[in-house]
Amino acid sequence: MDKRDIEMLVRRRVQELGLDMNPGVKKEYIIAANWKMNMSEKETKRFLEEMKAVHIADNIKVMIFPPYPYLHLFKENLRYEKIAYGAQDVAKEEKGAYTGEVSASMLGDMGCSLTIVGHSERRTYYGDTPQIVAQKAKAALTYQITPVVCIGETLDERQQQRYKEVLKEQLDAVYNEIGTKVGDCIIAYEPVWAIGTGVIPTLEQIYETHKYIFDVLKAYGLAHENIKILYGGSVNAKNVKEIASVEHVNGFLIGGASLKAESFKNIIGLASEV
Ligand code: 13P
Repeated sequence: MDKRDIEMLVRRRVQELGLDMNPGVKKEYIIAANWKMNMSEKETKRFLEEMKAVHIADNIKVMIFPPYPYLHLFKENLRYEKIAYGAQDVAKEEKGAYTGEVSASMLGDMGCSLTIVGHSERRTYYGDTPQIVAQKAKAALTYQITPVVCIGETLDERQQQRYKEVLKEQLDAVYNEIGTKVGDCIIAYEPVWAIGTGVIPTLEQIYETHKYIFDVLKAYGLAHENIKILYGGSVNAKNVKEIASVEHVNGFLIGGASLKAESFKNIIGLASEV
């Protein structure tokens, strides 16, 4: 069986499961790289150099989230309007005596149009509660910076069938803080158990969960076109196409597989083929 046959089978399976969205209509995808605390200055420069030659199809938007110290390299070297960049976190406060924090206006100065908030690693290791995450999203929006709000359940919560409740709590906190401006955020669903583990949910689980998140956002009064839900957790070149075919998956937030330009470019190309 060659690559084409496998792709046909995957597509058929996705259609059989009823997970395909408007067959024939080219979906738009966001392909986002979260580098976490990886890469050096040298590696970042090389990555940006290699990204110059990338072809980005019309239906694809690329986003990169490097560590703070390398944001200036993006500001100075990135001349590609189809690639946006941002930080991995932002302070909830506007300014003042908050040692170690970086404010939304500072991110604006660095040319960021985006910031991640509420990544599970921040929630787990740095005490970012749903309320703090919501305040960070609000601070970002004040400076026209789009928050990519990460939500996701742990393995325990999934196994106890509590994931919907957990996701709703995380979303409600943001809605309570900023109301329908949630529509100005991008939501990234990242099951904690799939991050960096090589384990990914089944297509059915991804569909069911994205649909649930979509319905919660819809119930806040958001219009369909303002709802963007990324999937994150062990995404790579092998699984990106089948996950991309699932309805309500509007793109990906990628960790490990985004650290090499070659691999990231490959994923960008594959998503444009869906
Ligand atoms: P991996 O792609 O390495 O699993 O990381 C996902 C993630 O946490 C992106 O924010």
